[in-house]
Amino acid sequence: MKKPLRIPDLQARKARGEKITMLTAYSAWMARLLAESGAVDLLLVGDSLGMVELGYDTTLPVTMQDMLRHTRAVRAGAPHALVVADMPFLSHQASLTQGLRNAGRLMRCGASAVKLEGGQGISPTVEKLVSAGIPVMGHIGLQPQFIHAQGGFRRQATRPGEERQLLADAAALESAGAFAVVLECVPDEAAAQVSSALRVPVIGIGSGPHCDGQVLVTHDLLGLTGSAAPSFVKQYAALGQTIRAAVDSYAAEVRSGAFPPSRKRQEKDA
Ligand code: KIV
Repeated sequence: MKKPLRIPDLQARKARGEKITMLTAYSAWMARLLAESGAVDLLLVGDSLGMVELGYDTTLPVTMQDMLRHTRAVRAGAPHALVVADMPFLSHQASLTQGLRNAGRLMRCGASAVKLEGGQGISPTVEKLVSAGIPVMGHIGLQPQFIHAQGGFRRQATRPGEERQLLADAAALESAGAFAVVLECVPDEAAAQVSSALRVPVIGIGSGPHCDGQVLVTHDLLGLTGSAAPSFVKQYAALGQTIRAAVDSYAAEVRSGAFPPSRKRQEKDA
């Protein structure tokens, strides 16, 4: 089996120009499949959990309890993977102590690192966690926890001054000690600028090809979310259709009596 990537290896990967792959996982079975593929460098227990698994419209209702449970499950399914767990909405803003305590809880459930949405404003928290030995991944551009403040799931850094702010946020996260930064839904040129300005890897989502790596929500790329998937997603499979067809066949065979076969027929067929 391929040796799993470690956090100190990531910067060298960027320096060598080797792209980094990250995908979300929320369950033990999915984490196991992704780890077995050997093709995914980082697993993200994203708070997108709320939207793709729990049926919420946004990520805001996701709680620490949700994140702890699913981080534990992902670690159980992928014991050697580099697992990043999202700090959910309002889990670190009350105080540095709250941030440290909640990040520590995620680490105790098996996370190798935590991810926080926010730029310059959260650099004291990033510094605090990093100094306590908790690796931090930043997340700027479209920040789903800021959905109301940002005016919906819309492309960021498109208005005058926003690109400068994006670069300042990225630089602040790197200076505070973040080991990587997720850059969501910004124009390709802005993503290219941020990626070349930082030494740490920039992992893009909906931000074009110039980032140091890419992340997607696994349900989206597998075709499980159908038309609810964002427009930048490439669906590499149509598992929604596969599941519907399998369920139809099962129900038809139960109704017709073809499944299950009688024990006698099973013995004859064996
Ligand atoms: O929650 C999540 O899945 C994320 C990715 C979309 C980057 O933050």
